[in-house]
Amino acid sequence: MQNPWWHSAVVYQIYPRSFADADGDGMGDLRGIIEHLDHIAGLGVDVIWLSPVYPSPQDDNGYDISDYQDIEPVFGTLADFDELLAGVHARGMKLVMDLVVNHSSDEHPWFVESRSGKASPKRDWYWWRPAREGMEPGSPGAEPTNWGSAFGGSAWEYDAASGEYFLHLFSRKQPDLNWENPAVREAIYAMMNWWLDRGVDGFRMDVIDHISKDTTLPDGALRPGTPYGDGGPHYLNGPRNHEFLHEMHQRVFAGRDELLTVGEMPGVTVDEAVKYTDPAREEVDMVFQFDHVWADRGADPWVLYPLRLTNLKAIFGRWQAGLAEVGWNSLYWNNHDQPRVVSRFGDDSPRYRERSAKMLGAVLHLHRGTPYVYQGEELGMTNTPFASIADFRDIEALGHYAQAVEHEGRSPEDVLTVLRARSRDNARTPMQWNASPQAGFTSGTPWLAVNPNYPQINAESAVKDEESVYHFYRRLIELRHEEPAVVYGDFTMLLPHDERLYAFTRAHGDTTLLVIGNFSAETVRAEIDDAAAWETAELLLTNATPPQDLVLQPWQAVIYRAVRR
Ligand code: NOJ
Repeated sequence: MQNPWWHSAVVYQIYPRSFADADGDGMGDLRGIIEHLDHIAGLGVDVIWLSPVYPSPQDDNGYDISDYQDIEPVFGTLADFDELLAGVHARGMKLVMDLVVNHSSDEHPWFVESRSGKASPKRDWYWWRPAREGMEPGSPGAEPTNWGSAFGGSAWEYDAASGEYFLHLFSRKQPDLNWENPAVREAIYAMMNWWLDRGVDGFRMDVIDHISKDTTLPDGALRPGTPYGDGGPHYLNGPRNHEFLHEMHQRVFAGRDELLTVGEMPGVTVDEAVKYTDPAREEVDMVFQFDHVWADRGADPWVLYPLRLTNLKAIFGRWQAGLAEVGWNSLYWNNHDQPRVVSRFGDDSPRYRERSAKMLGAVLHLHRGTPYVYQGEELGMTNTPFASIADFRDIEALGHYAQAVEHEGRSPEDVLTVLRARSRDNARTPMQWNASPQAGFTSGTPWLAVNPNYPQINAESAVKDEESVYHFYRRLIELRHEEPAVVYGDFTMLLPHDERLYAFTRAHGDTTLLVIGNFSAETVRAEIDDAAAWETAELLLTNATPPQDLVLQPWQAVIYRAVRR
């Protein structure tokens, strides 16, 4: 079988709300994206993934969809969308849509109909259940299961009109669709085919490992310190998940060339990912796993732990080895749900921000898999110094604050410290285009404040400066396109016990690449075998003065190439 095109591709993610506002209402839009396509094409990426642009009450910034086959008026029209798609294709790139079908908005006509009464023909399109046996419907603790929702509170919402509850693993405005019902699946496949026929090139599938639930809906083990149980074991990677994705493949993807499909799968294991991405099983091309972005947290996501580099390397090493023969990795540091990586795993002080951002890019992009760049990552954008809870907009941050401060009596300052490090709003501050007011994002008032560091960190100055993070990312992407060892080389982790250096080789045919990243502000010598031989190898890329004797400066990255003759 021929290798698929996306093995050597790099994807750029746009979060439309925060990318570029063309009409001055403070919210990004499609025309804003159209105006900035050259910035993305200039990086050399192959694909754009667009976070949701569909009509939505915006309870979870568009991940709550009320019409799957139109465009949110704040973002534009279908005509704007077609123009955007044509502009992307004209620049030789592809466009992948976000597919959010674990749940819809409660304002979607399907749910409105479903909610209209127990006899509704669409009642069974969602998860409706009576109160716990022997309990008064609507009374505390009468929810059908003890599951907590991702954004705080119970995963069940009581509907007084019918006396039943509906399931929402995310907000109460995001009811879960019932994939057990074949009519639901047919409607979703029809919608997906409609977008592909319109010309889009694939889908990023939101929490797609949540679609099959254990239909007996058992209680979960209680989470310490909360009244809620962990339903995860009963809805993550459930009994029919593979079957549903294979059916989707047959009904939607089969016979269409050149698509890219990636399933977002919180909690997926390596073994399951091999199955999801084994081409012979015809499910998805690759998955987003979460292990590495959970490397600095424990069971409670709101407790901060320092990163142990050995842990991060063990995680990546396991994934690289696990998918070496069958399946394919996706690679990311950032997306709209993660804090900015340069603040998280690098050093965002003026002294080392650019150097550490480049080091992080080099290490990630030299792994085997398809790299994803999130808007602003190519500028080394940082977390934001949010002053108070009033500065946050994300439903997750606000929900956590209310739960922790108002219900659990924790200190507001402690909760804010965690939110400043972890909140998804760090990723969602407006894209920094230039040094003009509001970073050139909008002529109005942005929906979420611009990071005050935009006069120093912005696209205009980065594109002009050959030494910027932007041009370093451009070279990394170019290297992937030109050097087969980056795409196909066997991965071997070196120095697994070193807490400062991240080192590995990629070997393909007669070519071996050596990659070393210094994850510390110290000068460190890489004690690897054949150090002397590597010293004389070709240095393909570095972010500081070339090293002597493999002594790396703070946050330095090096990529060497040796060719056996
Ligand atoms: C994952 C998305 O990336 C996130 O932004 C969203 O809140 C949840 N899924 C629910 O759709």
